[in-house]
Amino acid sequence: MMAPLPVLLAVAFVAAIMAPHARSDPSPLQDFCVADLNATTAVDGFPCKPASTVVDDDFFSRSIAASTSTRSNPFGVNATRATASTFPGLNTLGLSITRVDMAPGGLNPPHSHPRASELVMVLKGEVTVGFTTSANQLFSKAVRENELFVVPRGLQHFQLNTGAGDAVFVAMFDSQSPGVVTPTFSLFATKPAMPMEVLAKTFLMTEDEVGAMKSKFDGF
Ligand SMILES: *[C@@H]1O[C@H](CO)[C@@H](O)[C@H](O)[C@H]1NC(C)=O
Ligand SMILES: *[C@@H]1O[C@H](CO)[C@@H](O)[C@H](O)[C@H]1NC(C)=O
Repeated sequence: MMAPLPVLLAVAFVAAIMAPHARSDPSPLQDFCVADLNATTAVDGFPCKPASTVVDDDFFSRSIAASTSTRSNPFGVNATRATASTFPGLNTLGLSITRVDMAPGGLNPPHSHPRASELVMVLKGEVTVGFTTSANQLFSKAVRENELFVVPRGLQHFQLNTGAGDAVFVAMFDSQSPGVVTPTFSLFATKPAMPMEVLAKTFLMTEDEVGAMKSKFDGF
């Protein structure tokens, strides 16, 4: 017997509201909503500045214009993010961008973005980009100036400078706040610390062996 019409409509409605979860940030409800970074109310995103106080500069940012130092950390990488937090005009628009400067041999260690896919464009040098799937397959490619590589949402990925000199790339995201999860930090640099028993059992190592790895992350 067919389910009654109201039940079918209810199922269709639930399916319709579930569908956006497969996409990026929700669609905006107005032309713009420049973030009021001073607002004290907590919402999903930032509240809007009053439209009457919005100026040209709210839609402009030099936050990734400058090259950064790649020698001040052991990875030889420096990421500068233009998200809704640093570029309030992005609030509610569902996109953001990061500039990454890399020393020769520099590595952006494996990490994932829970809320966004990532479109990489190399501006300078050669960067090998790779991601792993939920079936543990690795896809990777050496990407050169003006070339693109895309990393699907939520998957682990890395960028390694495989060129001769410095490298620069930008990563564009379909979220105003993609988030970053780096497993090495999630395991070795949490506060409070992950229980040693969990770490040792995870890596099939003794606590001393894991302790030697973990100590490298003390400063992070
Ligand atoms: C936030 O507060 C600072 C200092 O009080 C002010 O200069 C700035 O314009 C405020 N920003 C917004 C978006 O209201
Ligand atoms: C990134 O570069 C800036 C400016 O050159 C520097 O102040 C900062 O310490 C660097 N950050 C890291 C994580 O190396």
